[in-house]
Amino acid sequence: MNLAQRMLALEPSATLAMSGKAKEMKAAGVTVYDLSLGEPDFNTPEHICQAAFEAIKSGKTRYTPAAGIMPLREAVAAAYKAKHGLEYKPTDVVVSNGAKHALHNAFTVTVNPGDEVIIPAPYWVSYAELVKLAGGVPVIVQTRQEDQFRLTAELLRSSITPKTKALLLCSPSNPTGSMYTPEQLGQLADVVLEKDIIVIADEIYENLVYGDNKFASFATVRPGLQDKTILVNGVSKTYAMTGWRIGWTLAPSNIAKSMAALQSQETSNPCSVSQYAALAAIQGDQSCVATMLAEFSKRRDYVTSRIAAIDGMSCVEMSGAFYAFFNIQAHLGRKYGDKMVETDSDWCLTLLEQQHVATVMGSAFGAPGYARASFAASMETLKEAFDRIEAFVK
Ligand SMILES: Cc1ncc(COP(=O)(O)O)c(C=O)c1O
Repeated sequence: MNLAQRMLALEPSATLAMSGKAKEMKAAGVTVYDLSLGEPDFNTPEHICQAAFEAIKSGKTRYTPAAGIMPLREAVAAAYKAKHGLEYKPTDVVVSNGAKHALHNAFTVTVNPGDEVIIPAPYWVSYAELVKLAGGVPVIVQTRQEDQFRLTAELLRSSITPKTKALLLCSPSNPTGSMYTPEQLGQLADVVLEKDIIVIADEIYENLVYGDNKFASFATVRPGLQDKTILVNGVSKTYAMTGWRIGWTLAPSNIAKSMAALQSQETSNPCSVSQYAALAAIQGDQSCVATMLAEFSKRRDYVTSRIAAIDGMSCVEMSGAFYAFFNIQAHLGRKYGDKMVETDSDWCLTLLEQQHVATVMGSAFGAPGYARASFAASMETLKEAFDRIEAFVK
């Protein structure tokens, strides 16, 4: 049976491929120090699970409106008003099966065949594939470690063509941990407004921000930007709810309406029980977020110090999210035993085979010469993994 054309160009997720390889080794009895997946290692907080039990017991197990239950849409809109001062009608919020689905919706309803979507690299693995599935053309724009992997206004301006439809921004970033300041977002916004393109702002890591760094939602940095922006967010990372599959968009009314219609045909509503759990997450006690953040923060400091101590390795300041994206260029073109380690893929695969540490090659994120380690893993795992990375490099 022949595959449709659109599937031939689709790359499978490299992060899932690496974690799949790590899982195979684990199944064969090997202890693997797995830093490949971007998934909090905490359990979903108890009060959120309790809300799900209640939802099941009270029969909230039927279809809901395709765009999500109104109390959740209202709660999301209210949270954005309280936190960012942004006014959205509840009907401008569309609840989806995770932020990934929300991104799929955003590209599907805005991108015409041949439209270009600017994606700064290093980028999260799914963006380019989702753009291609929507018929668009991903335009990868390389950013530099010296610029903290941030897209500059000049770089954005020079990447815009008459076919440019959208800019994808991810801040705090997976995979680099870098984050834009409000001023830097403002400079990008000026170009966006002048050139009349739209922005899809993936803000899934907004609550995982470290030290004195301050998160700003893209839609807030210039007047009039809300009409040009689709905000993407969800509960997966903030509340350790990756498996519940709840994400959302906040968008101009016509876009939200169209995404709701798309969802009504493609998937219907996201899981009803998960929606009630997400509602409890947003409306309940937020101390669980602070507790998890404090733990991530300790790990981030630890990982930063370990990378700095390895000869020839470096990374940018991790302002948010839970990834270290480290430069391994000085360690390529070297031999491990009799195996030549030429590329970042060779490096990550050899590290996994020889030292049983799973990371993801930078080339999967459009940045060869780097590797990504998630620090959504326990301190013990991180310590052992970095001891082994150090030994591997030596
Ligand atoms: C930047 C970014 N956006 C979106 C997602 C997807 O989130 P969800 O699990 O809610 O689909 C991830 C998950 O790894 C991510 O890192």
